[in-house]
Order: sequence, then structure tokens, then C-alpha cells
Amino acid sequence: MGSTAASGTMLNPRSSFSRVALLTLVCLVLFFYTFRSTTTKNRIEPFETETEVIYVQNSNQSRPLDCTLNATHLQLLQWRYGLGENVDYGRRYIRFHRDNIARASMTKIDNDLFPKGFDTIKVNNPPMSTACPKPLDVPVARSPYPSTVDASNLLFGISTTFQRLSNPKTGPITEWSHWLTNGNGKSNGAGLVLCLVDATNAEIEATRQMMKEMGMDVKVFPSDSSIEMAKRYLSLLPALYQESEHKKRKYLVMCDDDTFFPSMHRLLNLLTTYNHTTDLYMGTFSEDINNIERHGSQAFGGAGVFFSVPLAKKISSFFSQCSTRQKIQESDTGWGPQGDILLRKCIYENTEVRLTLLRDLHQLDIVGDPAGFYESGIAPLSLHHFKGGMWHEAHPYEGAQIMHACGEDCFLQRFQTRDNYIISNGFSVAHYPKGIDFSVHQMERTFGAAPDDYGWNMDFMLGPGRKSLIQTGRKASWELKESRVEEDGSVRQTYIRKGDDWRWSFEQGGKGWRMYDKDGVVELIWIS
Ligand SMILES: *[C@@H]1O[C@H](CO)[C@@H](O)[C@H](O)[C@H]1NC(C)=O
Ligand SMILES: *[C@@H]1O[C@H](CO)[C@@H](O)[C@H](O)[C@H]1NC(C)=O
Ligand SMILES: *[C@@H]1O[C@H](CO)[C@@H](O)[C@H](O)[C@H]1NC(C)=O
Repeated sequence: MGSTAASGTMLNPRSSFSRVALLTLVCLVLFFYTFRSTTTKNRIEPFETETEVIYVQNSNQSRPLDCTLNATHLQLLQWRYGLGENVDYGRRYIRFHRDNIARASMTKIDNDLFPKGFDTIKVNNPPMSTACPKPLDVPVARSPYPSTVDASNLLFGISTTFQRLSNPKTGPITEWSHWLTNGNGKSNGAGLVLCLVDATNAEIEATRQMMKEMGMDVKVFPSDSSIEMAKRYLSLLPALYQESEHKKRKYLVMCDDDTFFPSMHRLLNLLTTYNHTTDLYMGTFSEDINNIERHGSQAFGGAGVFFSVPLAKKISSFFSQCSTRQKIQESDTGWGPQGDILLRKCIYENTEVRLTLLRDLHQLDIVGDPAGFYESGIAPLSLHHFKGGMWHEAHPYEGAQIMHACGEDCFLQRFQTRDNYIISNGFSVAHYPKGIDFSVHQMERTFGAAPDDYGWNMDFMLGPGRKSLIQTGRKASWELKESRVEEDGSVRQTYIRKGDDWRWSFEQGGKGWRMYDKDGVVELIWIS
């Protein structure tokens, strides 16, 4: 507790005086309830709960851990994720220490994550508080925050429809705000040219207004669906080139509406290793070798395609010869004309420039459970296809919120605890009840390729994967659903595991068994 007098008013919760007062009050209340529940336990509590309240005092901070259970919060989780009435609940505070170390893909912690297991609680009648062990200390790299990024070198281009933007399931605007703003309602300098196919003026204006209010530097243009999609895609580049003349941009980036750039500092650092005054066409392949065979060796647009301005200028001047009816037909590999192919042909047939591979971008042409990818300790520069449908489902925007407290490098960083848990920060908390007896440096092959999966299609891009632990009884995972930055700067993550999830099961005596009979909620609260 600071020794200086309170600088604000007495009502300011951040002032020392009211903190002491609040703490005392909370202590008294908790003491009262702890006392009451022990004396009346056998009478009113039909189930076992653990209630332990620990105040962690260290010389730098005195932070009361909030070990109370909020019934409204639990009921909302129950409603949103279809949880049963009795759930296994675990909360753990994790204190990160930002040190001058490199980002580790895996950090082993010589402590248990859940030393006392879980509480079984009734959602509609939870006990006052939950087990609250003292924070787990973990070291992390002193990586930069999204709030300090200057991305003014970048101009992005996306073509989509107003219908996709306004669909609550596929709507990507919140995700865009992660890589176009400082996380606090202000532009990070990056610009976006957004083309909305067949949108009305009112729709264009509404989109522009909403994105401006969220802090994004955006220009919204209508585009015409009677133009072939591949050609519309190619036409984004001349549009970006024209737009780039107003501000000094170094790279023009074409991507899909479901492309996510988690780590803007890391992305910009990589780009500075290239000479932006030369002709550059940069991107990555599909992970699925089938798609490379089918469509060719080129940048797959969902991962993001980066152009230096000089090359964009050249391609713009070739636009009409690159988008003739014949060229569009040539870009049809049997799956309809492909914009990525039209673009590659335009570059390869008219210049000597060839693709520069940026392997930390990810097209993610994967189907099924994506866990093996997200749980591999990677620091991806882009993610794609995470909105479900025929592709996979993940919540990278929610996951990336951890960066605002812990720094960019924390996202998807892994921590292995003594009780055989691995936290993949911002994606999952996985438990391996039979031990961690596999290579954590290979991706678990939980996911597949579509339509043809030979088992090895993705080995070239992702490395050979280890065997999946799904339905072996050797793994169960709580997956990130929600995450928020709290007023005190801490980040609260909510991970959910369903009891009837077919993956967390095993076979014995010719019968299938579930690993858990109840749904589970894990909340991790990251503090500094
Ligand atoms: C207090 O902060 C200093 C400097 O950040 C650090 O070296 C020290 O280990 C901290 N002490 C505790 C108990 O966390
Ligand atoms: C309990 O949770 C609800 C819903 O998240 C929230 O609105 C409310 O402020 C919380 N109450 C307390 C005391 O934290
Ligand atoms: C970048 O490329 C330009 C043009 O080729 C060249 O003049 C310049 O020296 C290069 N800069 C660096 C740092 O290599």
C-alpha cells in the first residue's frame, strides 16, 4: 500500500484510503459468511464447497483477490453456453512478470494450476466464494502493447458485403478494430479501404460511421456484383495504390474479411527487414498441399497479401490486360475463377517478381478441431477461417485481449504446470490426466484437410503432427469463450468445457465413457 496520502477524493476506488476501507469491508463480509457457513454448513449446504480467502501481500502491491462468486455472471454463462445446473468451477489468479527474456513457446511452472481441484457449484445458488489459491507467478517477455503500435505504413484492402458485416455470427468489425486501432478507440495509423458489394448509400454511410466511432481510419466504397468476383478482387490493388498516394504508405495489404492480424508490432518488425522501395509480393501458401496443386504456387489471400508500393504501381498499370475475359477463364481451376490466381498471373506474366514467403502468416485451410494449431505455442502473424461454417471455430479477438495486460507475446504462449495442465494463453486450458508424455513441439493433429485428407497434406507447411488425443481419455480442454480487460488493467478469461463434448471421452470394455459428468468453467485472471 502506498504511503502517500490519497490523491483523489475519498470515493475514488483507486485512492489508498478507500482501498483500505473497501478491503476492510470486504474482509468483514467474507469473514462473516465464512463463519456463518461453517456453523450452518450441514444444515443448508447439500454439497461440498471450498471457500478460502487469501490476501496476497507483497511489498509492491496489496491486491485483494476477488474470490466471490457472482450468480448473475454464472447465470449468463449458463445461458450463453448451455451449461448444466451443477458445474465444476475453478478460478486462478496468474501474476505475470514482464522480464527481459525471449518469448518461450512453453514455460514450465513448478506449481499446480488447481491445487485443490474444482468446486462443484450450483449456477442458480452458488456459494458466496470459491477456492482462491495465491496467484501463480509466471515469467513473460517484456513485449510491446497494442496501444503503442504505429501502423501508418500499412494500408489494408477488403472486399465484402454489408450482409456479412451485419451478421452477428460472421460480422468481423470488432476483430478489425484489434489491428486497426490502439485498443482504446483510436486509430493505430493503419488505413482500410473497404469495398462493399451492392451496398446502398445508407449502408455505406452506416458502416463508415460505425467504424469511425470505433476509431478506425476507413474509406468505404461501393462495388458492383455484376463484375466477376476475381476481377473485383484484382481491382482492389489499383484502388489501394490510388489511395496510398494521400499518405506515405509502405505496404498495401489485401486480405479477406475474416483475416485477423494479432500482433501488429511483430508484423511491422518483420516488414522492416525488407526493402519497401523494391518490388515485393509477399504472402503464404495454403497449409494444404492439395490446394497448392489445385490452384498453384501463390499467395493465398486469406492469410494477407503484402505489396510494396512500387509493385502495386506496376500491377495497377497492367490491370486491364490482366483482367480480360480470357485471363479470368484461365484463373478458373474448376472451382470458379480465383482472385489469388488472377493476381499471381498478372505479376508472374508481366514481371520477374516472385512470391516472398512469410511463413508466420496463416491461411488456415483446416477443418474440424483447430486446437492442435492454436495449442502449439506459435506466435502467428495472421489467422483466417476462424468463424466456423465449413471452417474451424476460434475466438482470436477475445484471445488477443491478454495482450493489453501482458504484452503482445503472451497471446498463445504456453505454460505447463505440475498437475499436467497446459495453458495456451487465449485459446485453451488443457488437462492431460495421464501425463504430458508426448512432444509438445509438434502440433497435435486434431484437425483435418478438406476435401481430401491423406494425413500428410499439411506436413510441408505445419510440420508432421503428433497423434490426436481426442477420445483417448488423455486430454480434456476448456476453451476460451470470453475475455475482458478489467478497469484495474487485469484480464479475465473465461474458458468452458462441456461435459457431453464427444472429444473428452474414451472407450473401455467396448463402451464409450465421458471423462466428466458435468460442464466446467475455468476463469483465469491475469494480474501484474
Ligand atoms: C517489487 O518490484 C521490484 C521491481 O519491479 C522487483 O524487483 C521485486 O521483486 C518486487 N517484489 C515483489 C515481492 O514482488
Ligand atoms: C455480477 O455480474 C453481472 C453480470 O456480469 C454484473 O453486471 C454485475 O456488476 C456483477 N456484480 C458484481 C457485484 O460484481
Ligand atoms: C533499397 O532498394 C533501393 C532500390 O533498389 C536501393 O537503392 C537501396 O540502397 C536499398 N536500401 C537498402 C537499405 O538496402
